[in-house]
Amino acid sequence: MKNSYSNIFTFNKKNLKKTINCLNNGDVAALPTETVYGIGGNAYKKSSIKKIFKLKGRPKSNPLIIHYFNLDKAKNDIVLNDYFLKLYKNFCPGPITFVLKKKAKSKIQPLASAKLKTIAVRFPKHKIIRSILKKINFPLAMPSANKSNKVSPINALDVFEDFKNKIKIIINGGRSKIGIESTVIDLTNFPTILRPGIINKNSIEKVLKLKMKQKFENKKIKSPGMMKRHYSPGIPVLINQNKHDKKSAFMYLGNKYKNNKNFFSMSKRSNLDEAAYNLYKIFRIIKKKGYKKIQINKIPKIGAGIAINDRIKKASNFK
Ligand code: TXA
Ligand code: MG
Repeated sequence: MKNSYSNIFTFNKKNLKKTINCLNNGDVAALPTETVYGIGGNAYKKSSIKKIFKLKGRPKSNPLIIHYFNLDKAKNDIVLNDYFLKLYKNFCPGPITFVLKKKAKSKIQPLASAKLKTIAVRFPKHKIIRSILKKINFPLAMPSANKSNKVSPINALDVFEDFKNKIKIIINGGRSKIGIESTVIDLTNFPTILRPGIINKNSIEKVLKLKMKQKFENKKIKSPGMMKRHYSPGIPVLINQNKHDKKSAFMYLGNKYKNNKNFFSMSKRSNLDEAAYNLYKIFRIIKKKGYKKIQINKIPKIGAGIAINDRIKKASNFK
């Protein structure tokens, strides 16, 4: 595909090679995953990790997720436990991240995991990221490919919007199928969800045969994805709204207001997975149309609605 963006590439053999060279040389690349796009770099190399933090403007205290092709490639870095093995078997590759104890001999750069004794690992499902992870001899530290605190990108152009030509390679892998970030679960003690996602509490409980608390509602920052202001579209967001102000954009579930241009349905059939898929896309559309404020109707706190509520609550902390 020819396009006017000299750093956005389609995925083919030649560009796969180019990407792998870039990563082998310690540079970073923006890559598609099934959740959102990420900026990936060699997790064993300090200079690559530094580049990622710098590009994003990310506080050093906020650790990165380390991405692997499979368990075999991760074995030297993580201390395995039964919870992890069960969840891995059921959900991986897929949109879930595990916080585990780091092995003493692990080569993961301490900076990548904010000098913690734990690391967050993920085994993404997207075909492109898997074909890259398979061919390199190191895992990828890969946060979402947005500036710190902003909305995660769900296609190559979203990445370009935040970084322009500052990232040499942005691989176009189409629209991310899930549209919000992976579920983050801490397995270093009794399982605790730190960041809700599409793989939800119920399905994890079924696999582990136990009941968890909704700890991610806690104020304490264990996972900086829990930071107060996050996922921000850059304009005020008000949640649990019943009425619509004339000049603001109104997000809701269903089809009721289809003839009013200020109303944006997240899912015409009120499906919460679809609403999660559309959340960041609609944030970006509304911002581009020049609205000064977003109001969001009450979203049920079930299934993917829990993850949606988490993201919009944090987005609502914009001042
Ligand atoms: O879907 C995703 O997970 C995407 C794609 C690109 O894979 N990545 C992503 O990365 O969302 P990022 O950096 O935007 O979010 C990483 C989250 C943060 O909330 C961070 O605090 C948490 O994972 N995290 C990373 N390491 C951790 C650790 N050792 N302990 C607790 N939380 C950790
Ligand atoms: Mg992020």
